[in-house]
Amino acid sequence: MLDVGAGTGIATRQLLAHGASVTAVEPGRNVLARAAERTPGLRAVLADGAVLPIRDSTVDLICFAQSWHWLDAASRTPEAHRVLVDGGRWAAWWSHARADADAWFNDCWSIVERACPGTHRGQRDIDWGATVGDSSGFDLHDRIAVPWQREVSVDGWITEQASHSHIALLPEPDRLRLLDQLRAVIDEAFPDGTMSVHYETWLWIAVKA
Ligand SMILES: C[S@@+](CC[C@H](N)C(=O)[O-])C[C@H]1O[C@@H](n2cnc3c(N)ncnc32)[C@H](O)[C@@H]1O
Repeated sequence: MLDVGAGTGIATRQLLAHGASVTAVEPGRNVLARAAERTPGLRAVLADGAVLPIRDSTVDLICFAQSWHWLDAASRTPEAHRVLVDGGRWAAWWSHARADADAWFNDCWSIVERACPGTHRGQRDIDWGATVGDSSGFDLHDRIAVPWQREVSVDGWITEQASHSHIALLPEPDRLRLLDQLRAVIDEAFPDGTMSVHYETWLWIAVKA
């Protein structure tokens, strides 16, 4: 199988642990080097997931752990279709915090939406399965939502927020101001420095027709 947009290999290692034969595909040289360091014996390819250096009809499963949205929208579906065997599967998933019932969470989103034009909380609800539906040569097979609770330190949460591209790409003063505002909200909501946050992972699976 292919783990496309493997990043530092978080999903790759879990797939390997489940006994899959995995090739990691990732266009970022530095993160792929990190994945290789952390994953002994990793089979990895430095490539764009929408231009795969992989032969036709050779892959049983192609998966995208929080990466499908980065690929070129016109070429990603035909490219995934090309490399899969007949009956092979496409899977994509995203994990998002969904603590929408909590005031601190909505305050944080409001801060991010004000500072990052084009980014909004509704983007968590995109139906990614629809991008491989209809005349794409795939049949949508399943949509699964898995709720879970994440325990994370306030520092860990802030570090992760800072790594999101809509924040990381802000001009330095705007980025620092935004992170200060987020920290003020979170420090008040979690004075002991640890957070427990409701998450959901949404997974779509499609089968090559
Ligand atoms: C949010 S990270 C997910 C990393 C990893 N799969 C995980 O879940 O931790 C998105 C990854 O997609 C990669 N990416 C961006 N554009 C891509 C493309 N055109 N083809 C394949 N991967 C891409 C990024 O370099 C990044 O590693």
